[in-house]
Amino acid sequence: MDVAYSLFGGVLLLLVLTRLSFIIRKVRAWITWCADVKHLRSLPSPPKRWILGHMLELGPTEHTLSFLQKFHKEFPKYCVYWIGPVLAEVRTANVETMKRLMLRPGDPKPTIYGFLYKWIGDGLLTTSGAKWIRHRKMLTPAFHFDILKQYIPVYNEVSYKLVEIWSGLADSGESVEITEYLHSYTLDVLLRCMYSSNSNCLEKKDGMDYLKAVKRLTDLFLARAYNPLYVFDWMYFNTPAGRQFLHYSDVVHKFSEGVIVQRREELLKTSKPAKKYVDFLDILLSAKDENGEGLTDTEIREEVDTFMFEGHDTTASGLSWVLYCLAMYKEHQEMCRKEIREVLAGRDYITWEDLSKLSYTTMCIKESWRLYPPVPYIAKELSEDMIIDGDRIPKGTWFTMDIITMHHDPLVWDNAEEFDPTRFNAENSKNRDPFMYLPFSAGPRNCIGQHFAMDELKVTVTHILNKFHLEVDKEHNVERYTIAVLDARAGIKIKLSLV
Ligand code: HEM
Repeated sequence: MDVAYSLFGGVLLLLVLTRLSFIIRKVRAWITWCADVKHLRSLPSPPKRWILGHMLELGPTEHTLSFLQKFHKEFPKYCVYWIGPVLAEVRTANVETMKRLMLRPGDPKPTIYGFLYKWIGDGLLTTSGAKWIRHRKMLTPAFHFDILKQYIPVYNEVSYKLVEIWSGLADSGESVEITEYLHSYTLDVLLRCMYSSNSNCLEKKDGMDYLKAVKRLTDLFLARAYNPLYVFDWMYFNTPAGRQFLHYSDVVHKFSEGVIVQRREELLKTSKPAKKYVDFLDILLSAKDENGEGLTDTEIREEVDTFMFEGHDTTASGLSWVLYCLAMYKEHQEMCRKEIREVLAGRDYITWEDLSKLSYTTMCIKESWRLYPPVPYIAKELSEDMIIDGDRIPKGTWFTMDIITMHHDPLVWDNAEEFDPTRFNAENSKNRDPFMYLPFSAGPRNCIGQHFAMDELKVTVTHILNKFHLEVDKEHNVERYTIAVLDARAGIKIKLSLV
């Protein structure tokens, strides 16, 4: 009996001690957090409202962009913004600070990237640490030039369809809202290239439910990012907004599962599938790490969802703003067309070799992305304290890198608001710090799909300029709108006329 009592006492003591150490750890973390919040309050920050902080100023509109630009001038190294009374976001548009942040290897993504988990899971964009290193290594071969080369016929094929549809709308005197077409266009390209899908998003409207769901998800994501009441999952997913997020994530998952099922069925039907090349899905299904281990079914699904989103929304935004700039600055549009005519010499098909000859067109794409970076902001969480000009930014801080403000900074770019593609000729680019131009981010977590995007853009812009004159619709006000990507609030309207 005595033995039983002492055994019971021992177990109880162990339980109390474990609980106690857990409680001590939690209390310590809470004390550190309170001290960090107090410390962050002493750092440079614009005047803020009681309780709300800067919540009313931070959002997706032009108003926020001007607000951030104004305070970047006042606090050029970094600046603290408050979302409510205790949640702080540190922002920088300073080249040196961004370079230091982008080159820090160990920082994970901040909590707001976790808001995407129910949708794209813990894939390459959101994950960190050993899992990120392993996945990045396994997926990099999917973006080798030999693989990318194979996609040129797809870019041409889908461009023919877009040009055909737009030809029916040209010369009517009416302008065309281009962004919706371009979302269907880039989704079609992505599905065909990366998943060898026989989709037809432009004509048959395949993927419409997916595109609508992505639009809702990005809006919901943004609303959550700037609402401190939505920080915790258990609160958020019990609100109507949270339930909608779950619903649209389901729509997206069904779509991506459909793509995987289609491939599996094709493989079952024939041992020699009709597809003509090794695609991203092949690489995903067959990739092995150094230990010979492949990706699990869940990991594959998460990467399919990640690449489906990252691969179409960014390029649709990028293409929209390039066409907008070319429509705005017609002298540059003419110079691109002249170059395109010379390179194509009467052909209507763009080859891999042509891409490197389209130098002026490439410069115009780059300059459009300076003024309108498709991904305007990116963020990380500090895994260690960071010292900036003697100020300590504490470990655990959510740090946003403001690419769009830096791209418009007159201290970084002469005549920053002027559209001048020659900034990107060889001579002018020669001595430029690569961290001054960041549409694809830089450092180890740069965009894995940047060459895919650039090739797709060059082929598409070439087909469009070869066929149409572009002119902006002066009656339509184009307002930038920063959701996950740089959108236009009421779309972009362009008048098309056949050349
Ligand atoms: C104009 C088009 C594009 C732009 C401007 C762009 C921009 C970016 C930026 C700025 C990042 C860094 C994000 C961050 O740190 O939070 C990024 C990462 C990423 N991009 Fe892109 N992207 C484009 C196209 C693509 C395409 C076509 C794909 C795939 C087919 C893709 C896949 C990814 C992935 C998976 C990541 C995460 C990489 C990692 O953390 O290792 N992107 N992109």
